Amino acid sequence: MNSAELLTEIKKRRTFGIISHPDAGKTTLTEKLLLFGGAIQTAGAVKSNKITKSAASDFMEIERQRGISVATSVMAFEYKNVLINLLDTPGHKDFAEDTYRTLTAVDSVILVIDCVKGVEQQTERLMEVCRMRDTPVIVFVNKMDLEGRDPFELLDELEEKLKINVRPLSWPINIGRNFKGVYKLYDHSLNLFNPNKTEIETEVVEIKELTDPLLDETIGEKDANQLREDIELIEGVYEPFSDDLYKDALLAPVFFGSAVNNFGIEEMLDTFLDIAPFPASRPTDAREVEPTEEKFTGFVFKIHANVDPKHRDRIAFLRVCSGMFERNKFFHHVRNDMKIKFSSPVNFVGQRKSIIDNAFPGDVIGLYDTGTFKIGDTLTEGEQIMFKGIPSFSPEKFRELVNTDPMKSKQLDKGIRQLTEEGVAQLFIHEMGQKKVIGTVGDLQFEVIQHRLQHEYGASCRFTSLNFHKACWVTSTDKAQLKTFEQTKANVLYRDKDKNLVFLADSAWILETTQKKFDKLQFHFTSEFKLEEA
Ligand code: G4P
Repeated sequence: MNSAELLTEIKKRRTFGIISHPDAGKTTLTEKLLLFGGAIQTAGAVKSNKITKSAASDFMEIERQRGISVATSVMAFEYKNVLINLLDTPGHKDFAEDTYRTLTAVDSVILVIDCVKGVEQQTERLMEVCRMRDTPVIVFVNKMDLEGRDPFELLDELEEKLKINVRPLSWPINIGRNFKGVYKLYDHSLNLFNPNKTEIETEVVEIKELTDPLLDETIGEKDANQLREDIELIEGVYEPFSDDLYKDALLAPVFFGSAVNNFGIEEMLDTFLDIAPFPASRPTDAREVEPTEEKFTGFVFKIHANVDPKHRDRIAFLRVCSGMFERNKFFHHVRNDMKIKFSSPVNFVGQRKSIIDNAFPGDVIGLYDTGTFKIGDTLTEGEQIMFKGIPSFSPEKFRELVNTDPMKSKQLDKGIRQLTEEGVAQLFIHEMGQKKVIGTVGDLQFEVIQHRLQHEYGASCRFTSLNFHKACWVTSTDKAQLKTFEQTKANVLYRDKDKNLVFLADSAWILETTQKKFDKLQFHFTSEFKLEEA
């Protein structure tokens, strides 16, 4: 394939993720987008992959959720001749790490906000990750049919809490029971809201300008005047929408609507097609890889175990970054320094898996894996590079893993190793004594681990609570100070799965004083330091 043909394929694609605090309407919006793309025919076809706290102790529920989240991890659909790859992200905070990693594989995001609740905690954290990578964001303010907050107030909150400038591209006429629809600022038309409608078409009224009497006729004089005032304020206060600022992640366009009523989504999707970036370049430890490079590269950002415990194989999700991926062609597995080919790679069009012959930058494909992949693994046509930005985060919850069936130690070791490779949790082993500590970002993972060890590996374990504050990776070129540190802190020093030195700090205060005392050491809070130092 020559570079012109490759460029045509790249320009046909958009890869994005939807992020939100749980319950803001991510699943509902996803479903409506798939309906637009014709990937599903009926509402209710997308199951929520929400993992609720109440489900935590219901193991059947965890299994069910895992099944669903395989099915909805990636959903590709075509809309107006563009191939859209939608990557799902778990909203539950305990699965935040999974979400962070998924965000490394997208080129832009749509952020859903609940107009009643405004910006919630999880939204702030997710936006931090977007900011770290300069990912362009479109905001969808959802649930306008409910008595939500004043839209200007919401815009202020978005700017303040998400630290990004915003620019409304549509504007609501009232809210809640009196919600009449939105005025689209870019083409001066009104979309009228009818809560009882289920079909996709929306009633559109073209308005030549805001002084048009048709506006008063359609929504009544009072609302028309309010809208005129609001728009004047918006034009005066917010800077005009700029494609460049959006692509540089400095400005987020905002749309208002109601996902469950299928309202306000079409114009957002159309705008998304117009402005969302094509598959972009990606950083590696050696250089930036451009999507237009003819040689194939890609990285694994998610690994999912088979839900059927009888089949130990897993699916590794790979984002194609450059060139063309081909079925049955040998590629280079950089970390293992080996050649590898795939006889049945799949894509996920609609919600079905189908075997594909090739894939292009922006595509996410599923590779059947029997244990060769870890999160962050890179495939190339021979070049020794590793993609960056797929870190393990410093965990915040710690428990000691205790084997309760010594006859099954091997199974336990294998299970734990595989689960950590999937990115479910991190394992730290004490330098002396082999004490095993599991670190996660959320409590729910411990239940998932215990359940999966039992059901998939036949191993049984229990956890004892540990009161650590944070784990961080420690490096230094000052051998003498490192040695003193290792001697003084021996009881809280562990090794991660790659034998890197990890310090488990009891409290924020201890962490701070240790950092001050050992000023020649570097304390890292993501595993990315290995690439930074490479
Ligand atoms: P999530 O994936 O972000 O967690 O949210 P999800 O789409 O599951 O939506 C959470 C709840 O909000 C659902 O109600 C959903 O129907 C509702 N919802 C979504 N969009 C709108 C909207 O525009 N207006 C209103 N009023 N509600 C909306 P639920 O009762 O939790 O579930 P369900 O029984 O309706 O499925």
